[in-house]
Amino acid sequence: MIELKDIQYVRSGSADAAEAVRFATEIVGMEYRGSEDGVHYLRADGRHHCLAFVEGRSGVLSSGLSLADSAALRAAEVELTLAGITTRWGTPEEAHSRHVREFLEFLDPWGNRFDLVVDAESDAAPVEFSRRAGIIEFGHLCVDAPDPRAAFEWWSSLFNIKISDWIGNKAALMRFDPVHHKLAVFQGDRPGLCHINFQVESIDDVMRSWHFLEKHEVEIEQGPGRHPQSTAVFIYFKGPEGLTYEYSYGVRRIEDDASWVPRYFDPALPNSIDMWGGPTQRASTQYQVDDEPAVTDATPPASDATPASAPSLQGA
Ligand SMILES: [Fe+2]
Repeated sequence: MIELKDIQYVRSGSADAAEAVRFATEIVGMEYRGSEDGVHYLRADGRHHCLAFVEGRSGVLSSGLSLADSAALRAAEVELTLAGITTRWGTPEEAHSRHVREFLEFLDPWGNRFDLVVDAESDAAPVEFSRRAGIIEFGHLCVDAPDPRAAFEWWSSLFNIKISDWIGNKAALMRFDPVHHKLAVFQGDRPGLCHINFQVESIDDVMRSWHFLEKHEVEIEQGPGRHPQSTAVFIYFKGPEGLTYEYSYGVRRIEDDASWVPRYFDPALPNSIDMWGGPTQRASTQYQVDDEPAVTDATPPASDATPASAPSLQGA
């Protein structure tokens, strides 16, 4: 079992990085910490960054998920390979760009690209938010797959993933720690990022941002509303190049795994998605950049931590 520890980042290709950064700072409120080699880093919590804009074609590039250590990463490589998933070790340059010590890339069976990362940089300095939106942390990320139920079956067969709640066959809200969901799969026909979520301090922050977003003529995709599954008060809004952001407050924690029974909500009932009965058009997806080099065979990076017995990926 591959044990996920946390979500780490989203990397998104941007044809107009200046505008993407402007929106992420002036509107979303994140801290811009500069760029390196065409990669622009945005910070919202103790992570070095949780969003990176990579100059180039529009579209999500990958989502980072963290593991405990190198041993866990090498075990994950074996498990994924045995499950028929091709993996690729990131080069030292790619790891540097992600501000992690090492990472292993894979595509889920529906084509969503993930980086399993180890030793992602933390930053102990207070976040210098560009706007006081009340952000306290990178909350969750959501990818698309044609069949969220099949996606959950896959994720839970390999990872420490549990289902928290279903929105029919439209969405699987999944957890790997007490937070109701940090990883979700929504129904969509192509690989992509449905949205990136930031938790805020209070319901007042969500409502203040609602007015702020309207004043700045930002497209609000859904909300403000309240999800009955997580009980979170939410608002989804669209940034440049189709990247959807969400603020939410009050996500449920499931402290007692054993007693939690996943609920199944009928998506045809409006209150199933917003218990306040608001419009429930789903958030739009930023599709994955599809001209990335295919995941190819590679060898683990030279590292003292690489055991001599690390399995070869040749032919994987
Ligand atoms: Fe969300």
